[in-house]
Amino acid sequence: MQDALGEVQSVLVLGGGSDIGRALCVRLARSRCRTVVLAGRPEDDMEPVADAARAAGATTVELVEWDSTDVASHRKVIDDVFDRFGSIDLVYVPAGILGSQEAFDADPTFAAKAVEINFGGLVSACLVVADRLEKQGYGTLVLMSSVAGLRARKDNFVYGSTKAGLDAFAQGLGDSLHGRGVRVVVVRPGFVRTKMTEGMDAAPFSTTPDKVAELIVAGLAKGQEIVWAPPLLQYPFFVFRLLPRFLWRIVAERAGG
Ligand SMILES: NC(=O)c1ccc[n+]([C@@H]2O[C@H](COP(=O)([O-])OP(=O)(O)OC[C@H]3O[C@@H](n4cnc5c(N)ncnc54)[C@H](OP(=O)(O)O)[C@@H]3O)[C@@H](O)[C@H]2O)c1
Repeated sequence: MQDALGEVQSVLVLGGGSDIGRALCVRLARSRCRTVVLAGRPEDDMEPVADAARAAGATTVELVEWDSTDVASHRKVIDDVFDRFGSIDLVYVPAGILGSQEAFDADPTFAAKAVEINFGGLVSACLVVADRLEKQGYGTLVLMSSVAGLRARKDNFVYGSTKAGLDAFAQGLGDSLHGRGVRVVVVRPGFVRTKMTEGMDAAPFSTTPDKVAELIVAGLAKGQEIVWAPPLLQYPFFVFRLLPRFLWRIVAERAGG
């Protein structure tokens, strides 16, 4: 249950090994969050995230098995967490893969898998979460979109399309829950230096997991429905989304694809 100051006391992370998720857990635990539940595949390395959350002040830290693509298990896994902990204030959903357009072009089944991980599986899990938050009567769900989903680029349009789908889903879900005590927040980062982008050249306005976590926490406090990371990115993307295709192709080409 959120405290009298509205601060998060419990968080469930779907994609518990995420670098941005780790930064968010640490930031929340340094404040008033004492319960951290990390959900991920058995092969995901969630222990370092658990250790960091404990070191930051979390007193109850649990790891649970959850795979975005195993949609048949989502109801049971998520119900179990809510039932055991009584209530969950914040559900953060960073699970996802980036892949590369070359790999997707070479193996369309991998592209379909990315859509399943980044979009289909998260739709399934977030609908279960929304149902539980609505029954609980309060709570916040935070999903990770990307600027890559706001205007498709030829060098990462499969990843971008998964984020476009997730962004639209988050907005629609948020509107469907409006007035019922449950808030859905969509985060739109640019390039964040994490293991997902390791070895890649940083794009303009690149940022860090800690900065994204700070913006999410600030956005929660201010009641934002959309969090840009960094906030400055909303201005070029406002323009990019209006550009006719031929102009966008030139801009995207100059930006590297
Ligand atoms: N980093 C960026 O520049 C950036 C920019 C915009 C948006 N985002 C989005 O922000 C979110 C967090 O990104 P991040 O940078 O923190 O990346 P990250 O550290 O790689 O976190 C993503 C997590 O998702 C997990 N995952 C992969 N497949 C899964 C599956 N089938 N089921 C459950 N979990 C699965 C990964 O596990 P493994 O590590 O074991 O694969 C990893 O722990 C992602 O949705 C990403 O698309 C990131």
